[in-house]
Amino acid sequence: SLPKKVKIVEVGPRDGLQNEKETISAEVKIELVDRLSRAGFSNVEAASFVSPKWVPQMATSTEVMARITRLPGTIYSALTPNMQGFEAALAAKADEVVIFGSASEAFSQKNINCSIAESIARFEPVAKAAKANGLRLRGSISTAFGCPYQGEVPLTAVADVVRRMRDLGCDEIDIADTIGVSTARKTQEVMLAASREFPLQQLSGHFHDTYGQALANIYASLEVGVQIFHSSVSGLGGCPYAKGATGNVATEDVLYLLHGLGIETGIDLDQVVDAGQFISQQLGRKGSSRAGNAIAAK
Ligand code: HMG
Ligand code: MG
Repeated sequence: SLPKKVKIVEVGPRDGLQNEKETISAEVKIELVDRLSRAGFSNVEAASFVSPKWVPQMATSTEVMARITRLPGTIYSALTPNMQGFEAALAAKADEVVIFGSASEAFSQKNINCSIAESIARFEPVAKAAKANGLRLRGSISTAFGCPYQGEVPLTAVADVVRRMRDLGCDEIDIADTIGVSTARKTQEVMLAASREFPLQQLSGHFHDTYGQALANIYASLEVGVQIFHSSVSGLGGCPYAKGATGNVATEDVLYLLHGLGIETGIDLDQVVDAGQFISQQLGRKGSSRAGNAIAAK
């Protein structure tokens, strides 16, 4: 049977916006985060403390974190690839820091400029500092279902990184389909392989929708017991270091599916649709959530 309750981590303000070419003002980002908070998400990925030379759009992260209206109980997460990022996230009062690695060597080099082993060594002090400061620690594993540079990624490579992130003390681990290539059965295989190394209830599915498979992959994950998913309002997004990767699965579409299945999320779909309309207007284009556009047109 499917889970009764699912946690959605809204990653639009980070994964959704990081790839936008035009600079988005801090005001707009803040307004987006605040609208998402009010819609009821218990976890919003709001910032990324990475090199502004690599990802210029995230350079306003300190300002965004300082000026959002934090709702009690809501977790505001930030990406932290190294200690420099951690110090910035700590100063910005992030509730959760995210160390992000990869199951593919080729992608690790392109995205964070080091090997998988080197990345784990960099994450070690971040993990220790997070624990010492009472912050939640999340690990994200890119290209767990396929890599734009190396192609096939073996299950053993995914399991290996899950184990290393578990040993660093992660509270939650994301299994990410960076380029949206997975299909339903494959998704179940990867999730089950990951769950042999780390508790299933703390694993999350992070699906990009490049090949239109994300909702099917979420349903397949629900069938094997996954209870945490990432999504992006209006389907925004893409990773700057994954050629051709499009946005995350749209939050509105995921909520429409989950609520239709009778699964509780605690999130108000109509308010998410409004947030999606808001950010689409700001970006000057139509949103890419099918459910969002249908509901907004009613
Ligand atoms: P590097 O060049 O190897 O690092 O970059 P370095 O330590 O040699 O530092 C070089 C310069 O960067 C120095 O500045 C540092 O100060 C600066 P300079 O002396 O040249 O002026 N620097 C920083 N500045 C701000 N914040 C920091 C920081 N660290 C160093 N934290 C690094 C290594 C990881 C920093 C770099 O490769 C980087 O920033 N990469 C960005 C990767 C990224 O953000 N990718 C997108 C997010 S991941 C994603 O989208 C996937 C995910 O959604 C899951 C999925 O879908 O797969 C999570
Ligand atoms: Mg992503």
